[in-house]
Amino acid sequence: MVKNNIVLIGFMGCGKTTIGTKLAYKLKYSFIDSDKEIESHSGTNINQIFDMYGEAYFRKLENEVIKNIYKLHKYVIATGGGIIKNKSNIDLLKQNGIILYLKASASCIYNNIKDDESRPLLKTDNKILAIENLLSQRTELYTNYSDLIIDVDNRTVDEVIDEIIKMRDYFEKSSSYSWT
Ligand code: S3P
Repeated sequence: MVKNNIVLIGFMGCGKTTIGTKLAYKLKYSFIDSDKEIESHSGTNINQIFDMYGEAYFRKLENEVIKNIYKLHKYVIATGGGIIKNKSNIDLLKQNGIILYLKASASCIYNNIKDDESRPLLKTDNKILAIENLLSQRTELYTNYSDLIIDVDNRTVDEVIDEIIKMRDYFEKSSSYSWT
């Protein structure tokens, strides 16, 4: 099967949704966000899902959503930061997409989301510490599961998008990726 999705993975607050939306627009791809899909299917928000049913239930919903969206064509897919906790999510997404890891440092992430209370896993008195801990647990997975790594620290959305687009040649040369 020809791969023709772009899948963005990375820690909370690294810019997957913002970058993904604009990237899709520039490429004339469609855009989908797995968290938004979970929220619209469940009719509630992620904080409430965690509060009422717990993380394990959220991960089940997340996996159900991935089982549907990995089959799409010409989509930029923004994933939740914990997508890598379930390898089967990545196995599915890889079937029809190239996986880009948007790599951000803990301080960059903290700056992006320090005032945002929408992430249940970061509801703590010491947000920077929570970010550092979780990031160090997950960095290896993000790295190992990605086809390409894009550094986002100290770069604008447009700079990151330009780099992704400049990689067009790489994608075209890689075995089964169709950019058109
Ligand atoms: C999570 C990241 C969130 C959301 C949920 C869990 C995580 O998505 O899926 O709060 O485990 O990293 P974003 O990465 O879009 O914030």
